[in-house]
This record gives sequence, structure tokens and C-alpha cells, in this order.
Amino acid sequence: MKLYGVIGAGGFGKEVMPLAAHWLPIWDGIEHDSELVFVVEDQYFTQNQRVNGYRVMSMTEFLTAPVSERRFNISIGNSAVRERIANSIPADVATPFSIHAPNHVSLDGNSIGDGAIFCSFTNVTSNAKIGRFFHGNIYSYVAHDCVIGDFVTFAPGVMCNGHVVIEDHAYIGTGAIIRDGTDKPIVIGRGAVVGMGAVVTKSVPPGVTVIGNPAKPLIRD
Ligand SMILES: CC(C)(COP(=O)(O)OP(=O)(O)OC[C@H]1O[C@@H](n2cnc3c(N)ncnc32)[C@H](O)[C@@H]1OP(=O)(O)O)[C@@H](O)C(=O)NCCC(=O)NCCS
Repeated sequence: MKLYGVIGAGGFGKEVMPLAAHWLPIWDGIEHDSELVFVVEDQYFTQNQRVNGYRVMSMTEFLTAPVSERRFNISIGNSAVRERIANSIPADVATPFSIHAPNHVSLDGNSIGDGAIFCSFTNVTSNAKIGRFFHGNIYSYVAHDCVIGDFVTFAPGVMCNGHVVIEDHAYIGTGAIIRDGTDKPIVIGRGAVVGMGAVVTKSVPPGVTVIGNPAKPLIRD
């Protein structure tokens, strides 16, 4: 018996689960002896919970159930939580699996890290490098030669053009557009946030939030 856990049963988890369910019979055959479950951290667990028909397990139950193989993915938007959970699961207990929508398109020469999620209508064109536990929400794309770090999140409809560099834990909001950077790559720094609808024409320093067109740092009073 194999166990596949989607860690996180919130809004994004509920969007991701059907994508994982699509692949289960393809990974393990029509007669598969495997179960797909939601997993929540122990403090959020209540007995006998089901979400959209799927069993919800506590993390402890998931990590200790007597199974032949255990795989996980993390559908939690907060990238720091994603990293904490990913790093807390020993490789000999469970290994990550990636999830991509049936209509996700990935062309030549891409390198994608463990635990990625590519929702419906996402594209990675060619020669892009993407780190661990990337989230690409619906209608996002990553164009040629981009280099994207670990635990990066793309909200829906992000347009990331060629040669852009995005460092670990950056968050790119809905509908943001990032200019291509052929001669001098645009760098979105570690933990930076790009607001929804922003048009990014210059590099964004680590930890800074930018908004607007052209994108400028969000100044708080
Ligand atoms: C940029 C962002 C992170 C700022 O969030 P925040 O720190 O909570 O900021 P606030 O909502 O307090 O907004 C601060 C000011 O910036 C403005 N603002 C916020 N986001 C903006 C945006 N994307 N574009 C333009 N202005 C924006 C607000 O109107 C507010 O203006 P005011 O001070 O004149 O009233 C957030 O608004 C955002 O864009 N998040 C991405 C959301 C998203 O894509 N979600 C996808 C879920 S799947």
C-alpha cells in the first residue's frame, strides 16, 4: 500500500488535490493499491475529517502509517511553513512528489526541483531552472532561461519573461508581469513580494514589496 499525502487542506490544497488524483492511476496503474490523503499538522487535526471526499490525516499518522511507500507534496502558500515542513520529513520516511495539471506545458531543457506544483494552464517554456517546492498557480508562465530558487510562489496569471532570476522565498502576486532581462537579468531578491498587477521593470531587493506600473517599493506610513 502506497500513501500519497497532500500536506495542507486549505483553498490551494483543494485546488491541487484533483490534479494529483488525475495522476494516481497513471503512476500506480488502474488497479493501484494506493491512497491519496490530505495531511494537516497535528495541531489542526480533528478526528474523522474528510475534505472533498478525501481522508484527512494528522502529520504523525501520515508519517507512521504502516505502508510500503510514502510520498508528499506541500500545498501551503506560506513559503516559510513549506520549507519547515519539507526539511522536517526525513528522506527515508517520505519523499516528495511533484504535481502538474494535465494541460501543463514544459518544453525542452528545463530543470525542476522536487515537490513542484504546476496548476492548470501553466507553462515553463525552455531552459529554465526552478528550485524545490515551487508553486505555479493557474495561468502562470516561466519563460526561457529563468533561474528560480527554492520555495518560490507564483499566484495566478504571473508572466515571468525570459532570463529573469528569482531568489528563494519570493512571492509574485496575481497578474504580475516581469520584464525579460537578456543583457542584465532582473533579479527578484530573496523573500521579496511583487504585488498583484505589478509591472516589474527593474530588480527588486531582497525582502522588499513592490507594487504598481512601473513597480515601486510599497511605502507604509
Ligand atoms: C502588495 C501586497 C502584498 C500588499 O499587502 P499589504 O502589505 O497587506 O498592504 P495593504 O493591503 O495594507 O495595502 C497598502 C497600500 O497599498 C495599496 N496596494 C496594495 N496592494 C496593491 C497592489 N497590488 N497594487 C497597487 N496598490 C496596492 C493599498 O491600496 C494600500 O494603499 P493605501 O495605503 O493608499 O490605502 C498585496 O496587496 C498583494 O498584492 N498581494 C498579492 C495577492 C495575490 O496575488 N493573491 C493571490 C492568492 S492565490
